[in-house]
Order: sequence, then C-alpha cells, then structure tokens
Amino acid sequence: MTAVTCSYILSLFSFTFLLLSPRAFAVGVTDTFRKGQNVTDGETLISAGGTFTLGFFSPGASTKRYLGIWFSVSAEAVCWVANRDRPLNNTAGVLLVASDTGDLLLLDGPGQVAWSSNSPNTSSAVVQLQESGNLVVHDHGSKTILWQSFDHPSNTLLPGMKMGKNLWTGDEWYLSSWRSPDDPSPGDFRRVLDYSTTRLPELILWQRDAKAYRTGPWNGRWFNGVPEALTYAHEFPLQVTASASEVTYGYTAKRGAPLTRVVVTDAGMVRRFVWDASSLAWKIFFQGPRDGCDTYGRCGPFGLCDASAASSAFCSCLKRFSPASPPTWNMRETSGGCRRNVVLNCHGDGTATDGFVLVRGVKLPDTHNASVDTSISTEECRDRCLANCSCLAYASAEIQEGGGESGSIMWTDGIIDLRYVDRGQDLYLRLAESEL
Ligand SMILES: *[C@@H]1O[C@H](CO)[C@@H](O)[C@H](O)[C@H]1NC(C)=O
Ligand SMILES: *[C@@H]1O[C@H](CO)[C@@H](O)[C@H](O)[C@H]1NC(C)=O
Ligand SMILES: *[C@@H]1O[C@H](CO)[C@@H](O)[C@H](O)[C@H]1NC(C)=O
Ligand SMILES: *[C@@H]1O[C@H](CO)[C@@H](O)[C@H](O)[C@H]1NC(C)=O
Ligand SMILES: *[C@@H]1O[C@H](CO)[C@@H](O)[C@H](O)[C@H]1NC(C)=O
Repeated sequence: MTAVTCSYILSLFSFTFLLLSPRAFAVGVTDTFRKGQNVTDGETLISAGGTFTLGFFSPGASTKRYLGIWFSVSAEAVCWVANRDRPLNNTAGVLLVASDTGDLLLLDGPGQVAWSSNSPNTSSAVVQLQESGNLVVHDHGSKTILWQSFDHPSNTLLPGMKMGKNLWTGDEWYLSSWRSPDDPSPGDFRRVLDYSTTRLPELILWQRDAKAYRTGPWNGRWFNGVPEALTYAHEFPLQVTASASEVTYGYTAKRGAPLTRVVVTDAGMVRRFVWDASSLAWKIFFQGPRDGCDTYGRCGPFGLCDASAASSAFCSCLKRFSPASPPTWNMRETSGGCRRNVVLNCHGDGTATDGFVLVRGVKLPDTHNASVDTSISTEECRDRCLANCSCLAYASAEIQEGGGESGSIMWTDGIIDLRYVDRGQDLYLRLAESEL
C-alpha cells in the first residue's frame, strides 16, 4: 500500500471518529488553544492529521475522570495521562492556560488545581497537540518550547520520544506502568534505560526495587536479547545515543509506517503494538519477558537458562561450574547459582595460566558493572581480560551489518542473567588451565 493510500485511510478513520463524537465540534476541530480558551470535559483537541486526540476519559471500570491523549482510531490506547495521581471526581474538569504564569492547568469544578505543567512563566503560552502525540506548550513570540508531554512519559513510548538520561542536566525519562487497567496512577513496574559506567545502554524493567527483566545490552543494531527488533527496525528504526551528554534510547517511524506504541502494562509486560488498519486491531510485535528464562537472574550467578531444556528444568550451570547449593538447586531454587569447580590461577604478575571457554549464542550477562571499550578489537579485548585477574569474562561490544564483531565488554563480577537467545552473542568465560 502506498503512503498516500495509508494516510488517506487514516484521515478517513479520524473523519469517521469526528462524526461519531459530536462534542468535538464544540471547540471546532482544532489542535491548539491559548489564554482565554479552554477544553472542558466532553470537548477534545485533535492533532492536525487526526492521529491523536486529547480529552477527558474514564479508564476501564473507573468512574473517575482523567485528562489524557489517545490514538483517535483506538480510544482505549491511551498514551499519556496528566493527572495520574489526582483523578477528578466529576465531569466539571477544565484544561486552560493560567492567565498570570502561562502554566497549563487542569482544574476540577471548584477551581482547585488537579494538575499543572509547572512550565516557565510566559504571558503568551500556546498549547498544541502535535501530530506526533506530543502536547506542547510554547511561547507565541519566541516559539521556545516551555513544556512538552514527551518529557513526562506515562506508560507508553511513542515514535520520537526518548528514554534515558541527559547527563548534563540530570533529567531522566522512563516509563511507569499503570496500577491497574482502571487506575493510571504509577504502578509497580518501571522501564528504565540503565548503563554501565562506560555507557553501554540496556533497558531494564524494574518491579519496585528489584530487576525483573533485561533486554540485554545494545550491540549497535539491536538490544542483544531482543532479536525481534530485526523484523521491525526497517519501519521503526531504533535510536540509541551514548555520549558524554546523554545516554538515551528511542525510535522513529518511517513515513507510511503503521501506528505503533511501546507499553509497560500493569502486569509487568513490555509490549510493542502495531496497528493493523485492515483488521482494526493492535498486533503484538514484541513482548518481554518472553518466557521464564527472561525472569531476571533465574539461574543465578554463573547459571545459564535454556527455554527449550524442560528436561533439566531450564537451568544449568556454565561449563566447569556446579550448583553452589545442590539441595536447594534440586528443589528448583536456582537463583543461588553456581560456583567454579577449580579456582583460577592468576597472580597479576603476568603469569596467568588461565584461558577462556566459549559460551555461544547468549543474551549477555547484566552489564551494570561491566566496562566497555568500543575502540579496541575483540582480540585486544581478550588480551586485556587475560592480563587482568579481576576480569572474569569478555564479549564483543558491537555487531556490524555484515556480522563482523568489534569492541570489548569485560565483566569483573556478576555473570548473571545469562540465557540462550536467537541471534545471541558469544561470551568468553575465564577458566583455570586444567579445565580447558
Ligand atoms: C471556558 O471557556 C468558555 C467559553 O469559551 C467560558 O464560557 C468558560 O467560562 C471557560 N471556563 C473557564 C473555567 O475558564
Ligand atoms: C476526589 O475525591 C477524593 C475523595 O473525596 C479526594 O481525596 C480528591 O482530592 C478529589 N479529587 C479532586 C481532584 O478534587
Ligand atoms: C511568575 O509569575 C507569577 C505571577 O505573576 C509570579 O508571582 C512569579 O514570581 C513569576 N515567577 C518567575 C520565575 O518569574
Ligand atoms: C582490571 O579491570 C578492572 C575493571 O575493569 C579495572 O578497574 C582495573 O583497573 C583493571 N586492572 C588493571 C591492572 O588493569
Ligand atoms: C555491581 O556492583 C555493586 C557494588 O559492588 C553490587 O552491589 C551489584 O550487585 C553489582 N551488580 C551486578 C549486576 O553485578
């Protein structure tokens, strides 16, 4: 289907939506308002191309009112909520621009502020719902962006948004799940871009203060444990930046690509949905954790999870390692992991006789404490690891288009959360000479 047909169908949908939603005419069809104007419950803003709608809604079985942004074709696909923690108790809510500060304010009936943008003072704020789904407050004169909803994500990452950290300002962007389908207040799950001291990014799903699921580190083309990305990166290119100023992850949508969103569900699932305009339904292109082997640290330190190994209860120890506590391991309590059969022989004076064994095709271990150097070759990485007694394993940091590898990741502790994965990477694990 051509891009033109695609957007024609899209605008047909939004047109139909408008016909079915008569109150949208109350403010006329507009994406913008300013001081003196407002959006009341029942009215909406609609982005210029019709893709996104802003208005009041009640999620699931709730009767409370929230101000949010959703996909016009799919009102249940809410991607941003303003008053997550302060629901309105009736339909008297109104969104307006504060006449003194230019803040965007959500008032309940009696004029109490339920939510505010806390944007810098201006006398000429203009509020616009952009076609990207970003709600932007800008200064009419200077066009400076004073506030934008993309800087305050809820549970959804849209094309053009970012997760991660601005290392200069300290600003951080992450997703947080709803508490339940009826309650958009922040729930137990957060999806955060983690990075090692040497800025190797990977996405972590946290359940309160425990890691629940990792994507594996960025290998230059995809997150090591999410090879699914290879099937949609041509439409939704992933963008990862690791520099002195920021470590961020986001994605874009190519012209003509279908609608898409990445959501952290209240049950702790990360899902990428893609809108199928022919069946009028969201299709799941990725879901993580994918299976029991994605449960963080399931097989413990130096353990290895194999989702196809039902006969060994999925967990085994790495080669030349044995369960740290056989009785607990036998009771399927595998998170205690494994320990070395023979201690390493390394003295730090260049007399190391250790070597490396290859563990093929894995999601690499947690990289939080790993060190990364993209400027050296994998051979140099091996030499550097061998010469350093605290280095327990290494792997390449980057996979090239043609399959070549380069760069170096070295681990000094915590060889944890290792699993077999399709298109996985090779990990070189340090062993005593007698074990090789
Ligand atoms: C919202 O706008 C309408 C007309 O545009 C006005 O009558 C009403 O007083 C406004 N409400 C608030 C709370 O400013
Ligand atoms: C809604 O009602 C609850 C309970 O009475 C109250 O705590 C809350 O502040 C009210 N919300 C708003 C926005 O006034
Ligand atoms: C913003 O405007 C309010 C109201 O006019 C004023 O009280 C406040 O001091 C101003 N803040 C700044 C930072 O200028
Ligand atoms: C060994 O590696 C660790 C971790 O990367 C590093 O802190 C330490 O300086 C290295 N030691 C030597 C002698 O290079
Ligand atoms: C990283 O180091 C800290 C401090 O030594 C430790 O508590 C943590 O468990 C380590 N994380 C991993 C994944 O090894």
